[in-house]
Amino acid sequence: MGRIVLLNQNMINMIAAGEVIERPASVVKELMENSIDAGATAITVTVEDGGRRLLSITDNGSGMDADDLNAAFESHATSKIKDTDDLHGISTLGFRGEALASIASIAQVRAVSRTPKSDQAHCLEIDCGQKKPVSPCSGDCGTTIQIRDIFYKTPARRKFLRTANTEMGHITEQFTRIALAHLQLDLTLLHNGKELYRLSKDQPIRRRIAQLFPMIPADDLVETDSHEKSIRIRALLGRPNISRTNNKFQYTFLNDRFIRDKFISHAIKEAYRGLLEPNRFPVTFLFIEIPYTDYDVNVHPTKTEVRFYNANLVHSQILGAMREKLLGIDLHMPVQLPTDHDSTGAARRQEISEAMADFFKAHRPVHRQQELDLGPARPFPPPTLAERAPLRRPTGPESLAAPEPVYDEVKYLQIHDSYILEQTDEGFVIIDQHALHESMIYETLRRRVGSDGLESQRLLLPENFDVTDAQAGVLANNAALIAKLGIELTPFGPKTYAVQAFPTLLDKKVQPVPFIQDLIDMLMDKGGTLNAQDLLDDVLNMTACKAAIKAGQKLSDSEIQHLLADRRHYESISRCPHGRPTTIAFSKSELAKQFKRT
Ligand SMILES: Nc1ncnc2c1ncn2[C@@H]1O[C@H](COP(=O)(O)OP(=O)(O)OP(=O)(O)O)[C@@H](O)[C@H]1O
Ligand SMILES: [Mg+2]
Repeated sequence: MGRIVLLNQNMINMIAAGEVIERPASVVKELMENSIDAGATAITVTVEDGGRRLLSITDNGSGMDADDLNAAFESHATSKIKDTDDLHGISTLGFRGEALASIASIAQVRAVSRTPKSDQAHCLEIDCGQKKPVSPCSGDCGTTIQIRDIFYKTPARRKFLRTANTEMGHITEQFTRIALAHLQLDLTLLHNGKELYRLSKDQPIRRRIAQLFPMIPADDLVETDSHEKSIRIRALLGRPNISRTNNKFQYTFLNDRFIRDKFISHAIKEAYRGLLEPNRFPVTFLFIEIPYTDYDVNVHPTKTEVRFYNANLVHSQILGAMREKLLGIDLHMPVQLPTDHDSTGAARRQEISEAMADFFKAHRPVHRQQELDLGPARPFPPPTLAERAPLRRPTGPESLAAPEPVYDEVKYLQIHDSYILEQTDEGFVIIDQHALHESMIYETLRRRVGSDGLESQRLLLPENFDVTDAQAGVLANNAALIAKLGIELTPFGPKTYAVQAFPTLLDKKVQPVPFIQDLIDMLMDKGGTLNAQDLLDDVLNMTACKAAIKAGQKLSDSEIQHLLADRRHYESISRCPHGRPTTIAFSKSELAKQFKRT
C-alpha cells in the first residue's frame, strides 16, 4: 500500500489557516473585509484579552440566509467569483473563499446573520471545524461573528501569541488600515469594554487621519491629487520634519486595499530623495486607483501583495506626482527658539538675544560699507543707485535656470563667509550658501540627466590622465553613465585617456581631470553594491557638492544676488542632497516674542 493519503478537509483548512491566520489581528482583517464586501456602512469590533478570549465583529451589511450561512464556512466557498474570467479584475476585498473556513478550523465560532428580507436571524456554531446545524435565532439585519479561544486546539500556534498589548497593537493596525481606506464606514473598536476608536462615516480623510494619528500635526501633511494615464493618485505627504526612523507610517492603498509593494516603496524613497537625512522615512498616505484589470491580487494568501502588469508606469506616475508636489511646497525649516517654559529657556533665550545683538553691532553688510541702523522695524538699508544697476553675469554661482535673474531688493548680508541672512516678508531666513547652491545644482542635474543627459562642451585642449587596468575596466563598464553626464573620453595610448568634452554646467566650477578621477574612485567603491539608479544619484550628489560654492567663500554682491534670484526657480529646496537643511526661517512673531515685544 502506498504511503500517500488525501488529507481530510479539516486538516486542509488548518493548513490554509496557517497561511492566512497568523494571529488575532488576521481574523479582524478578514472579518472586516467580509463586512465591507457585504456592503456594510457600520462595523463594530469588540476584543477581549488582545483577541485571545474573544473577537467579535458586527456589521449592518447584506447578511446571509440559512443556506449561505451554512455554505460560508466551507472551504473554497465564495459568492465573489465564479469562473476564471472573474479572476482577472477582482473588485472585492475577498475572493479566495477560504477565510471563514480557516478561522473556523482553529477556534470556537458563533455566527449570527440576517438578511433584510428575512424576519429572523440564523445562527451557526463551529468548534474547531466541528459544525452544528444552522438554527433560527433572534438578531438584527447584518452579521455578527464571534471568535473565542483562538488556537486553543493548536497549542503550538497559541504559544506564538504575544501579550494582550502586543496583539492589540496588531489589531489596531489592521483596524487603522481599513479605516483609512473606507471613509464610508462608521467604525468602532473596543478592547476589554473600553472604546479605543469611534470613527464617523463620511468625514474627510484628514479628519480620519487626525483621529487615528493624533501625533501627526495636520499642517505637516500636504495633499496632492493627480489623474493621468488611467492612474489616479491621491496622497497626503508628510513634511520632512515629521519623518520617522522606520517605514511604519507609510500607508499605501490600491483601490481601497492596503498593500505593500517594493516598487511603490522605492518610488516614495526616490520622491523624498534629498529632502530627508539617510535612514529617515517619510510619513505618507497614498491612495492609488487603477483599473482592476491592470494588476493581479491573487499572488499572496493575505492579499497584501499584488503584481502590477505595468509596474514601471505605476512607479513613474507615483514618483512624478509626489516629487512634483514636494518640490512645489515651501519646506523651509521653521525655527523653534526656546521659550520661558523650558527649564533652561530663559538663559538660552538671553544668550541668543545677546548673540544676535552683538552680531548686528559687529557686522556690516558686505554690500555696503556703513553701519547698519538697527531701528526696531527697519529692513536692511535701501540699495544705492549703483547697486540697483543692471547685474553682471556672475563669476561664481552661476544662473542655473533663469536667463537673467533679478534680485532687485537689497535685503541680505553674508556672515562668516558661509551664511546669507535675508529679510523676508514673514521675518528672516538664514541660508547655508553651500547647501542651497548644492541643492539647486543637484536638482538641475537630476532633471537634465533624467531627460536628455547633460549638455557638454568640447575642451579647447583635451586633457590627459593615466589609469590602472582596474580603472580602465570601471570606465568601460560605466560608459553609459559617463555619457549621460556629458563627459567624452577617448583612449590615448594603452593606459591613458583624453577628456574631449565636459558638462557645460560644470564649466569653471570643477577641473575635469580631478573630477573624473574622483568619479572613477566612486564608481569603484560603490559600483558593485548600488543599483544603477542609486549609483547615478550618488554621482549627482558628488557632482553637485563639488560644483557648488563652498562654505568659507566670500561672495560678491552680484554672486549673492544671483544665488538668491536663482533660488526662486527652486522654490522648495529646503534641504541639500545629504538631507541637511539649506534654509532656516525665523518668523517676525518669534522675534517679537523673543525680544518681549508681545
Ligand atoms: N459579514 C458577511 N456578510 C455577508 N456575507 C458574508 C459575510 N462574511 C462572509 N460572507 C459570505 O461568506 C463567503 C465566504 O467568506 P470568506 O471570507 O470565507 O471568503 P471570501 O470573502 O469570499 O474570500 P476570502 O477567503 O478571500 O476572504 C463570502 O464570499 C460571502 O458570500
Ligand atoms: Mg473574506
